[in-house]
Amino acid sequence: MKKISGLRSQVYNVKPYSAGKFVEQVMSELGLTDVIKIASNENPYGPFPESLKAMQEELQNLNLYPDANFETLRTILGEMSGLSMEWVTLSHGAEAMLQTIAKMFVAEGDEVIMPSVSYALYADISRIMGGKVVNVPMTADYRTDINGIINAITADTKLLWLANPNNPTGTVFSKDELDQLMTVLPERAWVVMDEAYVEFADSSSLPDTIALIKEGRNILSTRTFSKMYGLAGARIGYVIANPELINTINTVVEPFNANRVATAGAIAVLTKDEQAVQECRTKIIKGRQQIETELAAMGMNVISSSANFVFFETQHNADSLCQKMMENGVILRSGSIWGCDKAVRVTIGTQQEIDRFLKVIQEFTNS
Ligand SMILES: Cc1ncc(COP(=O)(O)O)c(C=O)c1O
Repeated sequence: MKKISGLRSQVYNVKPYSAGKFVEQVMSELGLTDVIKIASNENPYGPFPESLKAMQEELQNLNLYPDANFETLRTILGEMSGLSMEWVTLSHGAEAMLQTIAKMFVAEGDEVIMPSVSYALYADISRIMGGKVVNVPMTADYRTDINGIINAITADTKLLWLANPNNPTGTVFSKDELDQLMTVLPERAWVVMDEAYVEFADSSSLPDTIALIKEGRNILSTRTFSKMYGLAGARIGYVIANPELINTINTVVEPFNANRVATAGAIAVLTKDEQAVQECRTKIIKGRQQIETELAAMGMNVISSSANFVFFETQHNADSLCQKMMENGVILRSGSIWGCDKAVRVTIGTQQEIDRFLKVIQEFTNS
């Protein structure tokens, strides 16, 4: 890449985000008419009806800035966790909140720790601040290795980026594991629990992050409306943390850190679409079970998932398999971007999408 004069050198530490191909792009490049994308962990059932209606109605107010305090949505989100609005603040997608956290905590020379097969953004947003990324290998069954993470902590550790459930593996670590980590966490280090997929997990298998936040431990939780709530395109997420930290975040970020349409959609999906969301959750979990069972029957090494996607190892090179699947109209995510050359991640789509994925992959793996 040709260097541009004047830019901070850390800018060049960041790799371009690989978003994968869009349906329209694959159709035009490969001359296909019927393409499905089950590659980005989106929710095929969203936006939910009341949420959509609220967003349509809100369009007429777009000449006005939003309420800078976002009181209604922050209050609802706080109440969901038994907290007041002072413990919550919003952002344009969880991604923007993760960026703000990196900006606030990571300084030149600080170390950040993350599992080696996890959400790639953590590395980029840390490196751009001059942070050094320490990757901790996964366990043999692709779980986050909490012991390995504990062993990687040094006097320079500032942040631990931990997605639970983890993307792309769908695995979770337990309350006991997190408690063990919190016990040895140095005072200057913070755990960022990225809980983007928490709504798809069995809550009894998860740590109680909110309880640790309430106790005043060095931990915060980021969440999103992009996954369970079907609003990925609206870009709205949030963080739960102690009120002092929330106050500081609100001081650091731009004044209107969420937009009117997304906020209206988020309020409606939480207050009026509960039944539709529950039905969707049931369908996604059923689809996840079907995919896990059928892939295992095909001989794949399937990693048990607590999210809206499944990660599995095949006998084949994942890039070639994903290319062949794409030529047959099914866009998937190859594990090669995480250094897993035989692994693939598939998002749980509609029943029709699931059936088509299973049929096409069966044909290729048989041949
Ligand atoms: C683990 C994880 N965290 C955060 C995000 C970002 O979510 P958002 O769409 O709210 O920016 C994603 C998106 O895929 C994700 O997988």
